[in-house]
Amino acid sequence: MKIDFSQSADRTMTQQLAIEGGDKVRSQPMPYRRQFGQAELDMVTQVFHDSWQKGVDFGFQDIYERRYTEAFCTLQGGGYADAVSSGSVAIYLAIKALDLPPGSDVIVSPVTDPGCVSAILLQGFKLVIADSEPDSFNAGPEQFEKAITERTQAAVLTHLGGHPVEMDPIRQIASRHGIRLIEDCSQAHGALYQGKRVGRFGHIAAFSTMFSKSHASGGCGGLVYTENEELYWRVRSLADRGKPFHDPNYDPKNPCEFLFPSLNYNLDELSCAIGLSTLSRLEETISRRLEIAHLINEGLAQCKAVHPCSARPNQLPSLFFHTVQVDIDKLQCSKEEFARAIAAEGISINPHYRYVLAEWPWVRPYCVQAAQTPNAVSFRDRTFNILFHERYTEDDIADVIASIQKVERFLVEC
Ligand SMILES: Cc1ncc(COP(=O)(O)O)c(C=O)c1O
Repeated sequence: MKIDFSQSADRTMTQQLAIEGGDKVRSQPMPYRRQFGQAELDMVTQVFHDSWQKGVDFGFQDIYERRYTEAFCTLQGGGYADAVSSGSVAIYLAIKALDLPPGSDVIVSPVTDPGCVSAILLQGFKLVIADSEPDSFNAGPEQFEKAITERTQAAVLTHLGGHPVEMDPIRQIASRHGIRLIEDCSQAHGALYQGKRVGRFGHIAAFSTMFSKSHASGGCGGLVYTENEELYWRVRSLADRGKPFHDPNYDPKNPCEFLFPSLNYNLDELSCAIGLSTLSRLEETISRRLEIAHLINEGLAQCKAVHPCSARPNQLPSLFFHTVQVDIDKLQCSKEEFARAIAAEGISINPHYRYVLAEWPWVRPYCVQAAQTPNAVSFRDRTFNILFHERYTEDDIADVIASIQKVERFLVEC
């Protein structure tokens, strides 16, 4: 696909900025992703028909969960997976499965979702927030090592925006200190690091499969993934009221045999059927998103102050959004105002990513020390995230670039 971006510049030559009342570059909404289409409806219908045929209502832990988790493990290249009710629950269970001693400190990424943080805090652990590497939202090895305390027992590392964390050096440091690693792959389904899928570098991993993710099992959902069979059985028990699933002779109707107190975190058969269907498109989704990001980057060559972020040769990201850098010294306003003006032209961007957790007041009482993550803040303050998906067309990409070019004409120093 080749896009002629020179025409998009002409379209925006004389207008006023949309944020100041001018016409928008893009008057139609950006395209609907339609993650759940006919294929997913057919799968759900099949679950109903199967149950009517069998004369048993569908529930959970049946054939669709088996097929879904097997397909997921095939994609990962081995291992074990359990489908659960959300990504936050998946992280909660992954941590719980490690049976950390009370009073442990847990390292967390500088930029992540509140569900990831709460999964740690609700188990009574204290947080140490590692800073990111320069020019990245992901925790870096040097920053990870600095965050280690005497009581650090585990770390939950988020592959943010679909970009894998530099896991090899972090793994080496963690293993020297006996620190268990949990990967939060919620925004990076299928991403490759050193040729291997994320989720295979720590002891255990969690994925959110809510509707907005690269593959989804419905409105809400999650997966816990590990290559360690013992951890897998523990997750299974934790996810379903302590049932001893590892014992082939266990009697589900005899709670005397259950192992410990726990809640029901299962994902039901309908959701697993949807997950199975969208998972079959994941590889295509990843490559189409990479192609679109590449085309956006090509278009940025026409821009004065907005530039692509540098790529890492040892990774193949699975993009959740597309982060671009702004040369803030060239702006006549703040980065946030600049990015808001671009958004006002009718394209989907997040002008100022607010997921830097050192800035959340509710987290501070749980931190071992005053949390400061200057690299993460600096990267956020020099970037904005283009929110996009695999259904973007050449016209949509051209509108993204045209919006940036138009705003640059008004807000970038000559
Ligand atoms: C990085 C990350 N971690 C955890 C979560 C929590 O997942 P869920 O919303 O499915 O509980 C999300 C969801 O948005 C996420 O993006």
